Amino acid sequence: MDRDDHPLIIVSNRGPAQFDRAPDGERVLSRGGGGLVTALSGLVKDRNALWIASAMTPEDVAVTEENDGQPIDVNLNGVDYRVLMVESDQAAYDRFYNVIANPVLWFIQHYLWDLSNAPDIRKEEIEAWYEGYEVVNEDIANCVITQIEDRDEPLVMLHDYHLYSAPAKIRAARPDVLLHHFVHIPWTQPDAWRVLPTEIREAIYRGLLANDIIGFHTHAYCTNFLACCQRLMGYEVDYETLTVNHPGGRTMVRAYPLSIDADRLERAVTSERVAEIEKEILARRREHLILRVDRADLSKNVLRGFTAFDTFLTDHPEFREKVTFVAHLQPSRQDVPEYAEYLERIEALVAVVNHRHGTTDWMPIDLRIYDDFDEAVARYKHCDLLMVNAIFDGMNLVAKEAPVINVRDGVLMLSENTGSHEELKEYALSVNPFDIQEQADVIYRALTMAPEERRERAEGLKRIIHSRTPADWINDQVDDIALVRRDREQV
Ligand code: G6P
Repeated sequence: MDRDDHPLIIVSNRGPAQFDRAPDGERVLSRGGGGLVTALSGLVKDRNALWIASAMTPEDVAVTEENDGQPIDVNLNGVDYRVLMVESDQAAYDRFYNVIANPVLWFIQHYLWDLSNAPDIRKEEIEAWYEGYEVVNEDIANCVITQIEDRDEPLVMLHDYHLYSAPAKIRAARPDVLLHHFVHIPWTQPDAWRVLPTEIREAIYRGLLANDIIGFHTHAYCTNFLACCQRLMGYEVDYETLTVNHPGGRTMVRAYPLSIDADRLERAVTSERVAEIEKEILARRREHLILRVDRADLSKNVLRGFTAFDTFLTDHPEFREKVTFVAHLQPSRQDVPEYAEYLERIEALVAVVNHRHGTTDWMPIDLRIYDDFDEAVARYKHCDLLMVNAIFDGMNLVAKEAPVINVRDGVLMLSENTGSHEELKEYALSVNPFDIQEQADVIYRALTMAPEERRERAEGLKRIIHSRTPADWINDQVDDIALVRRDREQV
């Protein structure tokens, strides 16, 4: 296959490496969390890539200053990265991350705003755009421009909703650059964007359309994006060729569904620590184990999931003391008030459900608010039902991870509003995330399903998930980039 081999710059807000100080004062290096880092590691491995990201901790800033703002080389889990961390003014970064990116954009792109109550767009939000989001995007764009100064037709791949205005700033300085932007979250329909003042909304679309290619996880997000370009910006779009014509030129929109690294997971599950945890799970397990593993994010629909379990236990008292629902929730974005309040509501609801149904030696919901990959993996292996009931979710990799290593023919409950539903729906039990009764009924159906049907579904899931690797995800994008480059050369 024809692969692009020009110098490559990857750009994202959260990078592959994060520096912190341990309580004993020692500097510690950890891998940046999330599917983005895993997905891009393959790209970094085989190419001479530079990864530009925001300095997110005071220690990131210190490391950057010690290196005079130059890239550093780090090795994480056997992968070498060249990383350049960009420092922004702290107050600007706070507005960028805690006011605009999360919640304003995240909520718009997951339909999370309760419009009769929020958002209120006041001076604070407008200033957060101009003095926060735009400033951080400018810092990142300037760093990219400096790094590509002496490179010919460089390739810059940007990631996610933190960096919507950076592409236009890079393009203005370097008309020859090849710009590719992958959006890891859903793209919502035009009206969802109308909460933003027109000039901010238009800045987002102008910023993004400076890219040659914009990638999403699903075809549905691509068509939503085209509808937005047409209805909100008045641009000419083509739903056949998935292109937008705009004053700056033409942008291609493409779906590249992200896959998981099944080999890495299969290796992780053989570790000694996982084996230790498994022993404990098996010793303590009831007849049925229901599992969810999520960031504690409003889009994940944790409250309705617990209410569905509450309803299930009321409807089917014969399951009392026979089932445990373990929920691994990783705290996230706790400086955003909506997220802090969400965790409190989760804890309160769990107390109510456990009080209503629990007995002296049975706690129906076992809530674990921390991040422990090995524990999650051990439970992936032994759960009978994985609950993924997200309100909206760009892809949801948990739905792909657990089935790969599960050994009990575990059933997957999957929200029809997740990106992974496009690929997995045939073998999952689909649910409407708002329909609590349906989720309660699906719990019952899963826990009483005939073994043959469980096996058939579990095998079907494994087959689909194994059919694509993270390398396919990257190669599909790189091939499209090569096409754009060829088109340009012919003009
Ligand atoms: C989720 C989303 C990613 C996003 C990330 C940011 O994982 O799927 O698209 O980049 O959150 O999370 P952060 O912890 O950096 O706010």
